[in-house]
Amino acid sequence: MNIYEKRIKWVSDYMAEINLPGELSEYFKARNILVTGGAGAIGSNLIIALSKLVGPRGKVVILDNLSSIKKRDPWNVTPLDNILFVEGDVRSDIDLKRVFKENISLIYHLAAFFANQNSVDYPENSAEVDITGLIKLLEYSRLSRVERFVYASSGCAIYGSYPKLPLSEDFISMHLTTPYQINKMTGEMYCNFYAHHYDMNIVNCRFFNSYGPGEVPGQYRNVIPNFLYWAMKGQSLPITGTGEETRDFTYVLDLVQGLIKSGYFPDAVGENFNLASGKEVSILNLANMVNDAAGSSRPINFRPRRKWDTKPRLLASIEKAKKLIDYQPLVDFEEGFMKNIEWFRDNWERIEELADFPPGMSSALNIEEEQR
Ligand SMILES: NC(=O)c1ccc[n+]([C@@H]2O[C@H](COP(=O)([O-])OP(=O)(O)OC[C@H]3O[C@@H](n4cnc5c(N)ncnc54)[C@H](O)[C@@H]3O)[C@@H](O)[C@H]2O)c1
Repeated sequence: MNIYEKRIKWVSDYMAEINLPGELSEYFKARNILVTGGAGAIGSNLIIALSKLVGPRGKVVILDNLSSIKKRDPWNVTPLDNILFVEGDVRSDIDLKRVFKENISLIYHLAAFFANQNSVDYPENSAEVDITGLIKLLEYSRLSRVERFVYASSGCAIYGSYPKLPLSEDFISMHLTTPYQINKMTGEMYCNFYAHHYDMNIVNCRFFNSYGPGEVPGQYRNVIPNFLYWAMKGQSLPITGTGEETRDFTYVLDLVQGLIKSGYFPDAVGENFNLASGKEVSILNLANMVNDAAGSSRPINFRPRRKWDTKPRLLASIEKAKKLIDYQPLVDFEEGFMKNIEWFRDNWERIEELADFPPGMSSALNIEEEQR
């Protein structure tokens, strides 16, 4: 089985297990759907699921400028007959006109300047992509009378530093600590404005710490792919903090489930809700799991917490998503973690080539240089 066949199988098996209602499958059939950021970690899984749902008479159009991916290599995009990959930018009128010619009825807006540390290093670029890009997309969506617009917001951008746990949607905080968080919060506010002023059908989905097949390690990427990468290279794992910090790690296909349902269920419209696992895993526990799996006995390297990282724990309530869209995360952490490792091992050569840790990088961690 080649790498694409395996990813298709994983998505197909998952979809068979969640047993989507017949009306939902009918609703998606033969649609043309735009996924911005469709070559990214989450998008590259979503496009496979959507390709199955829209079938041969529909189309999944990706708009992605490949900026997250070293060498601008679109290897994450599974080649399927009904997927149209357009390399382009959400800020470009030329690119937007190109994709909106495709008679789009549903949009998943996942493209973003990812993520916290990147936005600290490049605050202007991050605002241009995350805010100006979003406004442009909303304008084109309104003029094209798109039926529904699903926005990828972020749990870490809404609830601030020390909120009550589990994080529930009736609380927000203005105490945000990175431009990325500010942009995502602003993004929800723009979505709410377009929903209110133009009666657009918009859904704000707040993701929590995605992991799973499709995410290549890099200086600005998430902790799980980076830990796996360092451990598999025989390097010690850095923890910025005590290791007792927790995150609500969500398997990427559970997020895909939430996105599909957000694109369909009427009660999602005009709402914001968390898409998470509803469980916490500590960073130290994660580091130990990674070292065990990689057979590494290197000691953990504890460092000071990064200034913007003010969240000792993240745990989301998923009650609202359960109620509104029948969201039911299926994959527990151990199972998802094993799938993530399998994907890493299957694709190790490619991952090593594309892992993005440039020398002299400005982000807090430069493991490779230190250990040389
Ligand atoms: N991964 C997470 O844990 C997480 C958590 C909360 C929210 N989110 C949000 O979910 C979305 C997807 O996250 P991901 O992990 O797949 O990120 P990702 O970086 O892997 O994917 C984003 C994609 O957007 C593309 N992109 C960036 N700028 C663009 C531009 N100007 N025009 C067109 N394409 C552009 C990138 O090339 C990339 O392929 C993002 O909006 C992110 O902020 C992710």
